Amino acid sequence: SPFTPFARDLPIAPELAPVSGKNGVDVYDVDIKEGLAEILPGFETPIYGYEGVYPGPTIRARKGRPAIVRQHNQLTFDSNVHLHGGYVPAAHDGHPMDVIAPGASFDYTYPNEQDAAFLWYHDHAHGRTARTLYYGLVGTYLLHDEREEELELPQGEYDVPLVLADHAFNKDGSFRYAENVDLGFRGDTMLVNGAVSPRMAVQRRIYRLRFLNASNARSYELRLGNSRQMLQIASDGGLLEAPVARSSFPLHPAERIEVLIDFRSFKPGSEIVLQNVAADAGTTKSVMRFDVVDGGGAEEARMPRGRMRTLEKLPAPNATHRWDLSLLTQGGVQWQIANRGFDPNRIDVSTRLGTSELWQWHNPSNRVHPMHLHGMLYRVVERSSGVVHPGERGWKDTVGVLPGEDVTVQPWFVPYEGRYVFHCHSLEHGDKAMMLQLEVTK
Ligand code: C2O
Ligand code: CU
Repeated sequence: SPFTPFARDLPIAPELAPVSGKNGVDVYDVDIKEGLAEILPGFETPIYGYEGVYPGPTIRARKGRPAIVRQHNQLTFDSNVHLHGGYVPAAHDGHPMDVIAPGASFDYTYPNEQDAAFLWYHDHAHGRTARTLYYGLVGTYLLHDEREEELELPQGEYDVPLVLADHAFNKDGSFRYAENVDLGFRGDTMLVNGAVSPRMAVQRRIYRLRFLNASNARSYELRLGNSRQMLQIASDGGLLEAPVARSSFPLHPAERIEVLIDFRSFKPGSEIVLQNVAADAGTTKSVMRFDVVDGGGAEEARMPRGRMRTLEKLPAPNATHRWDLSLLTQGGVQWQIANRGFDPNRIDVSTRLGTSELWQWHNPSNRVHPMHLHGMLYRVVERSSGVVHPGERGWKDTVGVLPGEDVTVQPWFVPYEGRYVFHCHSLEHGDKAMMLQLEVTK
């Protein structure tokens, strides 16, 4: 069956080549358009894709070297592009109301002044993102810097972005998407980089695996067979202070976790399955498989030990906000923040550039709400359900707020002033009303 796991090799998204690199700026050109993807062997699945492919091409950027990504909207409806996790001026952030009309183009300018991090880009036209991300408008953006290079982490083909998403299919191979999934869409088939539970041939060496949860609403708990250890080195916003050994980790929608896996001690022929132990159905349980093959030996990368960086100290918080995450059920189901729907003409909170605050997400509901803030990063300060895991102590831009839980984060309002949104990244929630606006002023 086309759904048999481990039948296909892991696809790797193409890397986007700049059309120009003059004056220290890399310029890229991207068409946002329809395409066909071979996801199920023997079937063509209609998608929307950056350059017509799913997942979209990977952009590799360098700190200190700005990039301009010229996006041409060749779709029949408005689109726009948000660089998720990026320090980006408000006019280039892909605010949901700031869209590119069909046939028009926009030059997104990315300063790339933040530290190395695993960012991603996706459509953000208001009211449509659940659908357009599901149909393929997702790509990865890998920002590198010198500090990261000094750690001699695996590079090139040993540094692998993995885009996880659950999907469902119609008989003809097209994606199946239910329109009225107010609680969030869940598929029954696991895709990694656009292939059903693929296998990845790995040599006996160290790999850097970058996991992105690009699902509409599904949370994962990822574990290697026999609970073999992975070494987490980074979270959403870049490197942790020190690596953290993990036998499993949660990954909520829009979150990223980077791990190193050392395959040197495995015999060629070993097969190691990566499982989702939070799966509710058999089909989303097997995420992918690592098949150890010959090769490796002259290892250039190393496993970092001890300190990798020092995290910047945040200014003391000068305000506390509590954001209730609640469900409004009159006249249809609608998730809200602070009992308000999204209103692009209203500023819900104003702050000063350079300051910080405590934001408490209060979730009395029975759903996970992955809460994301645009244009800035935060630190997770407290979880009412227990301690904050060391793997969650680095820079973050999305945090999974569990049912019945209060999670306190401390955003740092840098580096740009302007209007940004914050919202639930369970896409069907954010699309409807679970989004508010922050204005940062001088
Ligand atoms: Cu991943 Cu508002 O975005
Ligand atoms: Cu939500």
